[in-house]
Amino acid sequence: MPKVIVCGRGGSGKSTVVSLLAKALAERNRVLVVDADESNLGLPQMLGQPAPEVTLMGYLGGKPAVRKQLMAALKEEGGEKVNFFTQDFGLAELPPGCTSGEWPLKLLRIGKIEHSKEGCACPMGALARSFLKRLRVEPNEWVLVDTEAGVEHFGRGLLEGADLVLMVVDPSHEALLLAERARSLSAEAGKRFAALLNKVDQETEAFLRRELAARGVPVLGALGFIPGILQANLKGDPLPLSGARQPLIELVAVVADQAAV
Ligand SMILES: Nc1ncnc2c1ncn2[C@@H]1O[C@H](COP(=O)(O)OP(=O)(O)OP(=O)(O)O)[C@@H](O)[C@H]1O
Ligand SMILES: [Mg+2]
Repeated sequence: MPKVIVCGRGGSGKSTVVSLLAKALAERNRVLVVDADESNLGLPQMLGQPAPEVTLMGYLGGKPAVRKQLMAALKEEGGEKVNFFTQDFGLAELPPGCTSGEWPLKLLRIGKIEHSKEGCACPMGALARSFLKRLRVEPNEWVLVDTEAGVEHFGRGLLEGADLVLMVVDPSHEALLLAERARSLSAEAGKRFAALLNKVDQETEAFLRRELAARGVPVLGALGFIPGILQANLKGDPLPLSGARQPLIELVAVVADQAAV
């Protein structure tokens, strides 16, 4: 099944969508949520499970060690072809301590900014790309990748290992502009691209659907503004599926279809 990258502008609802989609999918599948956002910390709470003991970066020796490997590869090959993993692996072979939760739903974090002046997040981007590329999934397994806001991860090549890029579009002009840019970046990378509308009402949904169609962006579904989600997020409680179950079940079917084509 698909490896799906969820992207979008800041605050559009990427982590919310990843959490809700993961919960809906986990009713019938194995789901690995990959937290590839270097800054935000709240995904474990949204999913309702602890943070993993270590990040993938920590497991590999920490940022200095990963950076060293990255720099060596850059010098040798003159490109960004560094591979942190020598062979492919499946969900059953994830590094110990790097995941939290139990199947059918586990969480893995790539790495977080932990120290002032620790340098840029490029090593995390390279690690995320390499991890996703080597990760193999079976028919009843899904991988959902939560990303940081904007399109920087497109530039870092995170898309290479993905089957579908799903952009969360909230009612804003910025989201439309970003969707247009992300569509063309995904096309360049040869990846399928689609949008999911979030926090919409009837009027904003109709407007966004029209605007996205004019920009050649397919829309796979829409979520309304659900007060229970905002409340849970405010308190740091797990996000409730209720209120979003039906659109999410519909979304699961369409995403599976899209990613498989
Ligand atoms: N469908 C929804 N209904 C109600 N509130 C929502 C919905 N989707 C997201 N929110 C709220 O919007 C805010 C931002 O959501 P979220 O953290 O998921 O966005 P994000 O895109 O991951 O943000 P960031 O760019 O910081 O990673 C949160 O307060 C969240 O509870
Ligand atoms: Mg987020």
